[in-house]
Amino acid sequence: MAVAPAIHATHVRKLYGNGVVALADLSLEVRSGVFGFLGPNGAGKTTAVKILLGLSRPTSGGGTILGAPFGSKQALRRVGYLPELFRYQSWLTAREVLALHCELAGIERSRWPEEIERTLGLVGLADRGGSRVGTFSKGMQQRLGLGVALLGDPKVVLLDEPTSALDPVGRHDVREIIRTLRERGTVVFLNSHLLTEVEQVCDSVAIVDRGKVIAEGPLAELLRTSSLRVRATGLTREGRAALARFGEIDEASDGTILVRGIDLERVPDAVSALVATGARVYAVEPQHETLEERFLRLLGQ
Ligand SMILES: Nc1ncnc2c1ncn2[C@@H]1O[C@H](COP(=O)(O)OP(=O)(O)OP(=O)(O)O)[C@@H](O)[C@H]1O
Ligand SMILES: [Mg+2]
Repeated sequence: MAVAPAIHATHVRKLYGNGVVALADLSLEVRSGVFGFLGPNGAGKTTAVKILLGLSRPTSGGGTILGAPFGSKQALRRVGYLPELFRYQSWLTAREVLALHCELAGIERSRWPEEIERTLGLVGLADRGGSRVGTFSKGMQQRLGLGVALLGDPKVVLLDEPTSALDPVGRHDVREIIRTLRERGTVVFLNSHLLTEVEQVCDSVAIVDRGKVIAEGPLAELLRTSSLRVRATGLTREGRAALARFGEIDEASDGTILVRGIDLERVPDAVSALVATGARVYAVEPQHETLEERFLRLLGQ
């Protein structure tokens, strides 16, 4: 039998009571590595994660985590979760919060001390285990939340904006933690709108807008498009139209033409189409698109 994907969602739709369609028709499959779920505010990212966990019921559709239905005990036992907004009891120490979650996760009591110290170390709180959560900065609380998500070595980890409160050092640390998880074979589902971050750590991504996936695939494939800067003379209306078949045309102030979103494989075709209209081409410079440029272009369409 084929191995069940780590995360599998089919035609998930979520309509809230107020009439908001948070997810229109979400289907996705994550088998391994780090998966980035990207979208602007209100796109439906948190709703999706809550449905994967069974914290929220889809209006229709459904799916599985490691082969077990969303929200089932079997699924939840092997999933770690860092919520977007959370607050631990301020009077507890970090160690006590982790102990509480060891208990909730059903980890054998004899293993708690080792598990708690390992986790504190992993999230960079080794020397603050005895401090009360009430004395923690936002970033320290987020590190603790990440620690809670990683207790018991889950096979799948869902992180909803794990670095929103972190400074650059903290963000770097979280990226390192995510890389460590990937090396260990843990599947990470990362909700984020921090594109540079996602670019540095994800293997594949889905871009979601208003509850719909508008692009998805391996990151390298998604970023295969680029913009092309063309310097040419004798550019006619036909010349512009020829280029427009390969991407979005923009005229720069220095007289060069930008073709945004062109597939790099098609650059020679674009050049010969342009030349065929009588233009004289002096320079052609392809530039790789960043994830942010790709994201904005997709959302703009
Ligand atoms: N409990 C709720 N009741 C009604 N509408 C909701 C509820 N939760 C979310 N929504 C709506 O569903 C849509 C998606 O919200 P969601 O929180 O999933 O977005 P998000 O992508 O996580 O956004 P952000 O980046 O701001 O965290 C929004 O329009 C939001 O207003
Ligand atoms: Mg959210």
